[in-house]
Amino acid sequence: MNITKKAKSFDQLTAELLIVGVRRNSDQVKGWEQFVSFFGPSVEDWLKSGDIQTEQKKLTKLPVTTSNQNVKRVLFVGLGDQKTLTDKILRETFGLVGKELKKLKASNFAIWPESFTAAPIDENDIAFLSAEGIGMGYYTIPHYKTTSNEPDQYLESVEFVTNSDINEIVSSYQVGKVYADSVNEARSLVNQPPNILTAPVLADYAFELAKQYDFEVEILSKKELEELGMGGILSVNQGSSIEPRMITLKYKATDEWDQVIGLVGKGVTYDTGGYSIKPKTGMVGMKGDMGGAAAVLGAMKIIGELRPDQNVVAVIGATDNMISSDAMKPDDVITTFSGKTVEVLNSDAEGRLVLADAVTYAKQHGANYLIDVATLTGGVITALGFDKTGALTNNEGFFDAFIESSIETGEFVWGMPLTESDKKRIRKSDVADLNNSPGSDGHMIFGGGFVGEFVGNTPWIHLDIAGTSDAKSAHDLGPKGGTGVMVRTLATFIERFKDLQQERTSI
Ligand code: BES
Ligand code: ZN
Ligand code: ZN
Repeated sequence: MNITKKAKSFDQLTAELLIVGVRRNSDQVKGWEQFVSFFGPSVEDWLKSGDIQTEQKKLTKLPVTTSNQNVKRVLFVGLGDQKTLTDKILRETFGLVGKELKKLKASNFAIWPESFTAAPIDENDIAFLSAEGIGMGYYTIPHYKTTSNEPDQYLESVEFVTNSDINEIVSSYQVGKVYADSVNEARSLVNQPPNILTAPVLADYAFELAKQYDFEVEILSKKELEELGMGGILSVNQGSSIEPRMITLKYKATDEWDQVIGLVGKGVTYDTGGYSIKPKTGMVGMKGDMGGAAAVLGAMKIIGELRPDQNVVAVIGATDNMISSDAMKPDDVITTFSGKTVEVLNSDAEGRLVLADAVTYAKQHGANYLIDVATLTGGVITALGFDKTGALTNNEGFFDAFIESSIETGEFVWGMPLTESDKKRIRKSDVADLNNSPGSDGHMIFGGGFVGEFVGNTPWIHLDIAGTSDAKSAHDLGPKGGTGVMVRTLATFIERFKDLQQERTSI
């Protein structure tokens, strides 16, 4: 990857635009005097008068005339009171900077990392957070309009003003950019229309990813799923004219295939609800019902780029959920890949049927730990809204370690209780081992709890991203639409897992 140019001092910059953090109460960083002598004393007056805004997340762009002929503009970024600065606020602030850079069509710019620091957030952290935030903020949805489908300007050229080790700063920036690019790819998968992103097309994408990063890959066709007896995914696919796929990618970090983390994604490329059909208002947006698959593939892209010391198997069940005379009906009894039978009470509770087979298959491929990610229930939105991912687990130590990574990435995850009485209701059926829809009261737990019936004693986390995968409106880190939620948390967790295990005896 060819991203950066190096500049040590303001005089050496070749970029036209310089990005600088400013704080309230002239509480600026050590190097501020150097900046003022480069920029001119009027900057102090403009700070005092408020012409340069210092409140958090406020941007001010000013044309400049300096000793450096190249720098034409400075983008001042308000940081407010530095005591309140966090990674999350900085990442979001850089998201807004990314949006501004897009507006300005600025493809080459410089950052002064020191101006953004706030203990314990150092210049390397700022380089990472700026790449992540700017990269995500810069993103726009690929579209099919016949006019102005200009390709994105790409953020390839960045300079840094620093007295620290510039190579370290550049490499932190590169890692941040890998994170942002991977989130953006996941977003684009979610944003694809369902007539274009079908299960076979999603499988082709995964196959190309595997080739690019040297993953082992297996794509199972409908015939192969039938031979294996994967009645969960097949029953969901029954009403469709488009074939399903079970996608498996393996990243082998060690010679021994052990300590394997299994990432399992719901890849329902369109969810009509089947015969338990969704109302017309509830159906729009169901192209995003493969957000779990997108999260897993986005995380695998980061893993492919950064090659952590951790074995990973990714399994994605891909199909749409359609209606025809062949489609699954409420009252059907199906046999999953595990052998467990399920009474189908609601054909719209299809994700759990797909995940049942995918989880069983991940275990067969040696997963010692399981994390499933799915846009599984409207119930999670009722319970937690659109800004929190709901979770279940069968292993508190494993979950606590995961939460540590989610705090690092700023992606809110909230654990919900899965009790014995919930499990009893999932297991209640006169004709089968399980039912797929025990009721609407607290039904996020029934959705995830159903998947839990297939994990056995393997440490497991379920992530219901129905509320967080698709933003209803633009936000600091991106536009309306696919968010790529969980890409960064999954990848961070995988990168950190060996260390987290050592710190804790319980996983
Ligand atoms: N794909 C939906 C869940 C969903 C809802 C995702 C809203 C994104 C936004 C899922 O397959 C579904 O339809 N779940 C039902 C389950 C119910 C029938 C037991 C639900 O949550 O209403
Ligand atoms: Zn559904
Ligand atoms: Zn669904």
